[in-house]
Amino acid sequence: MRGIGTPACGVPLFLFMSFPSIRVFDSRDVAVRELACEVSELIRGRAAQGRLVVLGLATGNTPLPFYQELIRLHRHEGLSFANVVTFNLDEYLGLAREHPETYWSFMHRHLFDHIDVPASHIHLPSGTLPEAAIPAHCAEYEASIHDAGGLDFQLLGIGGTGHIGFNEPGSPKDSRTRCVQLDEITRRDAAPAFGGLEWVPTRAITMGCGTILAARRIALLAWGTKKASILRAALTGPITEQVSASFLQEHPNTAFYLDRSAASALEARRETCQVS
Ligand code: PGA
Repeated sequence: MRGIGTPACGVPLFLFMSFPSIRVFDSRDVAVRELACEVSELIRGRAAQGRLVVLGLATGNTPLPFYQELIRLHRHEGLSFANVVTFNLDEYLGLAREHPETYWSFMHRHLFDHIDVPASHIHLPSGTLPEAAIPAHCAEYEASIHDAGGLDFQLLGIGGTGHIGFNEPGSPKDSRTRCVQLDEITRRDAAPAFGGLEWVPTRAITMGCGTILAARRIALLAWGTKKASILRAALTGPITEQVSASFLQEHPNTAFYLDRSAASALEARRETCQVS
């Protein structure tokens, strides 16, 4: 595991459980460098074989430093995204695509406009379709992921409700891309960016839990004490539809990349984990 334990990267703490792996870093910068290193090796390895790689991407504050690191690798270390195909987790319903808070805008602003991923390789659910067209669009999104060969890698954050994507409490483990109602906690968390709760959409299209869990590799990122208690529920609580991130406990190739603050409620339970 490149970079781990080197003075430049600090010394992450590993909590060994069956799975997923929990990787605790001194800072989010160190964590995202480590993850970007893994993802860049995946991209370069596929490029060397003349093959595409399929990345599932996420929005929110959490992945921002990861995207900054990918842009740095592109600008300064020659990493090309020409062989990368992307599928975003979700999109708000009811906003024009160019609205600054759509995930389409977010992804272009924070990543796509700064790298060489071909526009035709970029996929996000559409938030502007007439009601009657939404189910077919969701089915097409699933089919596109399948036709691309499935998700090689899925990036995740975790919401205050424990959601992954917009899979709010009550989302079945086998759910697929669909239209969902946003939880009030999620809407309140988004309210500052929209300038008030009344401007936050009430619905979205999201990949389902089943769509996400089919990814061959998953990395969930979380920073700060605000995420500590929901991470504890997701990682040490029951596997339940009430916390969709808890389904990751059963995924065989998931890593949680946490800073020390986000991991603080887990570290309080060291007696139940081996720590190195
Ligand atoms: P955040 O959102 O990265 O802005 O905290 C995460 C999420 O809701 O999945």
